[in-house]
Amino acid sequence: MIRIAILGSTGSIGRSTLEVVTRHPERFEVVSLAAHRNVELLSEQVQRFRPKRAVLADETCRVADTGGATWRSGMQALIDLASDPEVDVVVNALVGAVGLAPTIACLEAGHRLALANKESLVAGGALVLDAAARGRGSIVPIDSEHSAILQCLAGQPTTAVQRLILTASGGPFRGRNHEEFWHVGPDEALKHPTWDMGVKITIDSATLANKALEVIEAHFLYGLEYNRIQAVVHPQSIVHSFVEFVDGSVLAQLGFPTMELPILYALSYPERIGDATLRTFDPVQASPLTFEEIDQGAFPLYGLGTAAGAAGGAAAAAFNAGNEIAVQAFIQGAIRFPEMADVVSAAIDGTGSGDLSNIHDVIAVDGTARVIATEAASRLGEARMRTNS
Ligand SMILES: NC(=O)c1ccc[n+]([C@@H]2O[C@H](COP(=O)([O-])OP(=O)(O)OC[C@H]3O[C@@H](n4cnc5c(N)ncnc54)[C@H](OP(=O)(O)O)[C@@H]3O)[C@@H](O)[C@H]2O)c1
Repeated sequence: MIRIAILGSTGSIGRSTLEVVTRHPERFEVVSLAAHRNVELLSEQVQRFRPKRAVLADETCRVADTGGATWRSGMQALIDLASDPEVDVVVNALVGAVGLAPTIACLEAGHRLALANKESLVAGGALVLDAAARGRGSIVPIDSEHSAILQCLAGQPTTAVQRLILTASGGPFRGRNHEEFWHVGPDEALKHPTWDMGVKITIDSATLANKALEVIEAHFLYGLEYNRIQAVVHPQSIVHSFVEFVDGSVLAQLGFPTMELPILYALSYPERIGDATLRTFDPVQASPLTFEEIDQGAFPLYGLGTAAGAAGGAAAAAFNAGNEIAVQAFIQGAIRFPEMADVVSAAIDGTGSGDLSNIHDVIAVDGTARVIATEAASRLGEARMRTNS
């Protein structure tokens, strides 16, 4: 029995993880569940899965005290779930840099981290690796691209790898005339062509900020320099990534788009468990498979993010924080789609660079970048109101 904690159980990845667990009751046991504020859905999940512990990260929320679980609220309670000695695998399916402290706690406790929360690695990658080394914890990625890379590597050392090529669907605005981007609203940006995901990652996929976050994630997970990690647009989302080895051989992992497969693999790794409910692959139905270069002029957040990753430490944390604010401002209608890049640029430029040697440094940079990004978003919104009036 693998004992599992799911942080972010009410979200898209959290709910898919519970679906996977339901189909393999002989292998997986849910020990704890956590959400931010969605007490209604968390209560339903607690009634159904009967975990020992349930947490609402927002300490102002009233806990439900249902389902025989011990309920707590607040950030410390979330961190305690991640380091609980009664857990084998922690699924971090939180959204945003808030996932960093639980990620570090899980790895310091020596657990396996099934990581969906890529923002942890972007905001504090070096600290996350240190925590894993200190506590002997391990990271198995849930992101389909990084799961694909893990599967292609099959134990080969990084020295055998020449290049990683991540695939990107291109999002709903692939190939569109850039001038139209000024007029696309959140509804349109939230219509992803191939994946059904939470709000933040869906907007990140529309801007391609998500692919920059994933390049940084790959850098930390697989230890390759940034100039050996690339991304291409692959609209069908069938090939989840390529690994090129030093002898020129290239391996790829393929499958119809579903997050349940990488989730199952992260939970059972290195074993493979059969699951008859997952759609059988059919190369004819998957055809054609096409690949294109990323249009960096149309999607500047990709270049901004990869450059911030290469600059390291503070710049990557500022990119992540600025992007979280930009997505929120766009969803709320405060800024336009192309202005998200301006907000993120302001956050990176205003925060400075340098290494981050502990979590307090990350929290400080993250906080500064959020303030700068929020001010930049307000200025853009006010400028538009003046122009319109
Ligand atoms: N969705 C996908 O298919 C997919 C694929 C690859 C990677 N990922 C990554 O997986 C992570 C989760 O994505 P998602 O799409 O599942 O997101 P989501 O649907 O928005 O769910 C986010 C979860 O995190 C909780 N949460 C939000 N803010 C929080 C806070 N401040 N403190 C504590 N908990 C908080 C939410 O709780 P409430 O419900 O209470 O708000 C919810 O349970 C992201 O890093 C994303 O990039 C997602």
